[in-house]
Amino acid sequence: MKEVFDVQLFRENSETAVGILEKHLSDQSVRGLELVDPAVLSRAARALMTTEHERVADFDGAKLAGILDLYVRTGIAVHSPGSMGRQFSGVVPLAGVVEFVSSVVNQPSSFYEAAQLPNVAEQIMAEELNRFIGWPAGRFEMLTTSGGSLANLTALLAARNKAFPDFWAEGGPGAAGDGRPAIAVGEDVHYSVSRAAGVLGIGEAQIVRLPLNEERQICPVRAETALAAAERRGLRVFCVVASAGSTSVGAFDPLDELADLAHRRGAWLHVDGAHGASLLVSDRLRAKLRGIAKADSLTWDAHKMMFVPAPCTLLFYREREHSLGAFRQQASYVFDEEPDPYTALDSGDRTFECTKRPMIMALWTLWSVYGRALFADKIEQLCRATALAYEVLLEQPDFEVLHRPEANILCFRHRPAGLSDPGPADERELHRLQVAIRNRVKQNGTFFISKVDIDGTAALRVVLMNHETTTEHFRMLLHEIRHAAQDIRTTARGNR
Ligand SMILES: Cc1ncc(COP(=O)(O)O)c(C=O)c1O
Repeated sequence: MKEVFDVQLFRENSETAVGILEKHLSDQSVRGLELVDPAVLSRAARALMTTEHERVADFDGAKLAGILDLYVRTGIAVHSPGSMGRQFSGVVPLAGVVEFVSSVVNQPSSFYEAAQLPNVAEQIMAEELNRFIGWPAGRFEMLTTSGGSLANLTALLAARNKAFPDFWAEGGPGAAGDGRPAIAVGEDVHYSVSRAAGVLGIGEAQIVRLPLNEERQICPVRAETALAAAERRGLRVFCVVASAGSTSVGAFDPLDELADLAHRRGAWLHVDGAHGASLLVSDRLRAKLRGIAKADSLTWDAHKMMFVPAPCTLLFYREREHSLGAFRQQASYVFDEEPDPYTALDSGDRTFECTKRPMIMALWTLWSVYGRALFADKIEQLCRATALAYEVLLEQPDFEVLHRPEANILCFRHRPAGLSDPGPADERELHRLQVAIRNRVKQNGTFFISKVDIDGTAALRVVLMNHETTTEHFRMLLHEIRHAAQDIRTTARGNR
């Protein structure tokens, strides 16, 4: 047993890991994902497992190196310019150094006594980032959650409990005449919000869908009409959810107008800024979130556009007391009856998680070492690169671009000659072709892109997260897409 905890063994194997990661990070070739058959991967993984179970197996450095190597090789190559498919990124490598320390010191951060510096760092980051939100000091609150989905659920819970104070204890909507609890969301809202409605017992049928404009942002005028109609149906919309950077196209809803609309009706405005809240740190891009100070709560994923390891989500509330309303519980083993300066920083009473990673540490460390400009510069560069990719697409007669990018997400379709006469049959073929292209590109392994259905038809979607991705890489991707489409169509003709 002693050997397992040996410090020298730890040091030597840390060096092995650093060597593997150094090689991985130095490889700047254009790559996406080496997609491995799960059965093959399972065999490779099993081959690395000890068969000794009666006593602690002797340490085998080659086995550990093999596991680390397999782990690194089988992921999306997030540090490569070919990785353009998802909203998580190649992290700033130094963030990994902090995470490494976090794993070893093991300081779960819901309670100050278990994670002193992480709790202080959370408070500091809250104050630093609130400079860009603009809430009065001393009133707002920020806590970390494991992911944006959980932050959305938590904020909706706080909003529901404020509007329906008896719901937590009694269940159901409470007094007759209250109206059925409902939330209002844009058509492109992230699925975690609809899921939250299910978890909260609101029911999918009580999700009011607010219409979008041409830019796929919620249209406040039509939203007003939809909310009035919902009220007439006996619904009480207690929360309007706006997106600041929708998942599908990166659209920013008009927060200023939506806050006024929600507040006029006594509703809460929750802003799902999982993707786009990070634009607040840029002087050039902050205006996309005009009106954010009027929001009641904000979800902000630092593991997306602040380039730290997942998960690292910040959930902000304009009013501290509202953060206390999300959960109610008695647990004498952790919640002290007489708060003191130490327990004042505990967040366990405001988050679903009892044990959570000290996820703020990587973000706070990068912020401390490099300052705001690291994030602002990189985000601006990604948005510029996406705008250039859009310009490239406009020049291509066999591609149709679906929106002008507001941030770093861009959706388009490949429409080769022969598919260009619009009509329902053509739409189905177009849809199938985009899905097949996406899969083919993924399997080829040079690029990793995603797909999304827009108005019922699939589109190709790129999310530029790597500042090394250039217009040249984007042109290479278009070339690859054309080839993939040719192959797919030739094979399909051959099979007919
Ligand atoms: C707008 C939006 N909200 C919420 C989420 C969910 O966040 P997470 O993946 O951190 O749970 C995402 C993830 O892509 C998102 O884009």
